[in-house]
Amino acid sequence: MRIAALARLPLVALLALTACPSKDQGSGLVGADAKGEIVIGHVASTTGNEATFGISSDRGFHLFFDELNAKGGIKGRKIRLVTLDDQGKPEEAATAATRLIASDHVSVLLGEVASTRSLFMAPKAQMAKVPMVTPSSTNEKVTAVGDYIFRACFIDPFQGYVMAKFARENLKLNKVAILRDVRNDYSVGLAKVFQEEFTKMGGTIAGNESFSQGDVDFKAQLTNIKAQNPEAIFEPGYYTETGLIARQAREAGITVPLLGGDGWDSEKLYEIGGAALEGAYFSNHYSVDDPSPRVQDFAKRYKAAYNILPDSLGAQAYDAAGMLADAMNRATDLSGPAIRDALAATKNFQGVTGSITMEEHRNPVKPAVVLKIAKGGKYEFVTRIEPPSAVAAVPTTPSQKQP
Ligand code: PHE
Repeated sequence: MRIAALARLPLVALLALTACPSKDQGSGLVGADAKGEIVIGHVASTTGNEATFGISSDRGFHLFFDELNAKGGIKGRKIRLVTLDDQGKPEEAATAATRLIASDHVSVLLGEVASTRSLFMAPKAQMAKVPMVTPSSTNEKVTAVGDYIFRACFIDPFQGYVMAKFARENLKLNKVAILRDVRNDYSVGLAKVFQEEFTKMGGTIAGNESFSQGDVDFKAQLTNIKAQNPEAIFEPGYYTETGLIARQAREAGITVPLLGGDGWDSEKLYEIGGAALEGAYFSNHYSVDDPSPRVQDFAKRYKAAYNILPDSLGAQAYDAAGMLADAMNRATDLSGPAIRDALAATKNFQGVTGSITMEEHRNPVKPAVVLKIAKGGKYEFVTRIEPPSAVAAVPTTPSQKQP
């Protein structure tokens, strides 16, 4: 590499170069004309309270890259995925991101799922000019960190609108309580949008309560909510707390349904909450019962590999990897800036969860589904809600339709 190019390198990449001068696969500007394996980093909670988030995402990534490597990889080079566990801790996510960039010289960072942890990783990726793609972080602030940060999912201003619209129009509710996790950026953001949208649509919020990730006793908040007599409780938390809240709500004599967002999605949710969750509704990225061949073929391959059906995280990760591979194939070279530019130009990428087109803030515009938790914990598909902007732009010519 010429000195002029070195001068443009961010500090972290320079340190990596100094530490390992012979290594030519690299981060940021380093990977441009490298040969051999392409190293991609993944930061995930594969242990801890949100372990299924990390495990499912890692499965989706591995499935995609295994299939891709069998077909020859990207630009004739195989992919190697290096996954680091952050145990569900934001500081660990930041440390893992730094390690993957500086020591493993990854070309791209994948992760996290939880928005708070993505927000801890993103500044590291941005500073090193290593593109980062989160498969499932929906909080608006994540991609706003900088122009190297992308996602493969919709954002919470849309998800909050979806659940407010569903509560008002499908369930015909007038009065809903909110119970949010104040230590979780995702939960705080989604609660805020739901409140704004539901009120705008003529509904009332009665009972506005909070808890903190890791809490196990929600009786005080549920007693306050019960006194307000709401027709439902919107609780945009993660699955561990949601399972406990559902049980304690029933114990407190609350019989109205719980409503939530994608953070509920886990095979552990029903294990924790049991029958108390039956009749609850939540928004999600896709439904594994979608009869389209795209979803069913994917579900079959995932099941064959892992002996479990893919939750939305498995599907989102598979799509994030697909979208990334598509961009890397189009990129002029495999340097950070070239991959970044190609990711930003993503148009009509056909994923399992839908078609992905990046808008100017690096967020895809995609529909959401609403699922109902039925007897025995099975998710029933209820409805699919299109983004308001896409409603006006429904494809009219056959060539624009998804396969
Ligand atoms: N959207 C959640 C967040 O941003 C993460 C999540 C996505 C969890 C999908 C479960 C399923 O924090």
